Amino acid sequence: MILVTGATGTVGRAVVDHLLAAGVPVRALTRRPETAALPEGVDVVRGDPADPNSVDGVMAGVDRVFLLTTGPDLAAHDATLARAAADAGVSHVVKLSSGRTGDPAADDPIPTWHRAGEQAVRASGVAWTILRPLGFMSNALHWAGTVRTQDTVRAPFGQGRIAVIDPEDIAAVATVVLTESGHDGRIRTLSGPEPLSPADQTAILAEVLDRPLRYAETTPSEARAGLLGADLDETMADAVMALRATALEAFTSVVHPDVEEITGRAPRTFRDWARAHRDEFATA
Ligand SMILES: NC(=O)c1ccc[n+]([C@@H]2O[C@H](COP(=O)([O-])OP(=O)(O)OC[C@H]3O[C@@H](n4cnc5c(N)ncnc54)[C@H](OP(=O)(O)O)[C@@H]3O)[C@@H](O)[C@H]2O)c1
Repeated sequence: MILVTGATGTVGRAVVDHLLAAGVPVRALTRRPETAALPEGVDVVRGDPADPNSVDGVMAGVDRVFLLTTGPDLAAHDATLARAAADAGVSHVVKLSSGRTGDPAADDPIPTWHRAGEQAVRASGVAWTILRPLGFMSNALHWAGTVRTQDTVRAPFGQGRIAVIDPEDIAAVATVVLTESGHDGRIRTLSGPEPLSPADQTAILAEVLDRPLRYAETTPSEARAGLLGADLDETMADAVMALRATALEAFTSVVHPDVEEITGRAPRTFRDWARAHRDEFATA
């Protein structure tokens, strides 16, 4: 049995689907089982990593854990879940971290939180693997509203390029690491096949959608206001903006070989991702 945390989110849900497809029994942790909408056959358990008592017992009978936490308290959540894994005799924890955690110069909040979370996992005594993806291709879904209504992508840091990765590839990597041996003690940085600017992504979306789209660069303060409007609090909005600004640095445009090394196939392109998500950008 493999426990997946963050199972109702972008990456966790993909990990659940990949593990089920591989025939592996899956347990999913969520704060709200009633709205989790997880596939049949998943053992859905209630628990909130912010409340250590609520995760007591959720690891009983679990052999391995895919550990995904998020938000400003993610390091404390990692520590709680890693401790529960150690207490339950779990054999291997795979932590989803962040690519920038590997850049020693990165001292903005999100890599700092993940660095502390990674440390908690390493200190737990359970065998571990750490996955550090660069930016997700699915972040482009934030553009869907203005693409649908104005044929426009609005995003800051137009000069920045990120070797964005499809969450499906993160799930494919996680599934191999969780089901095969030989990955203990490894830190893997996961990227897509090419660094892309927002304008590059806009051009690919336009080609896939078969209609002209425009890229309009926004200022960081406009982008921050958009995050606050999308219900992020000030701490998260500032953390996300600090991370977004790092698109201007060379680190995020480096393509890494790890996805292909682990899965045996090249990472999916942004064109592949856009084709799979075409309907979400379609006009009404
Ligand atoms: N977006 C990127 O470009 C990017 C790049 C690299 C790394 N990352 C990392 O990837 C992780 C996010 O992955 P994701 O987008 O798949 O996650 P997500 O969809 O944002 O969230 C996953 C799940 O976590 C639970 N959750 C959310 N906020 C929580 C909180 N404050 N306390 C407890 N549980 C909470 C929710 O599940 P329930 O409501 O069901 O409990 C949610 O469905 C973060 O660690 C982030 O730093 C992101």
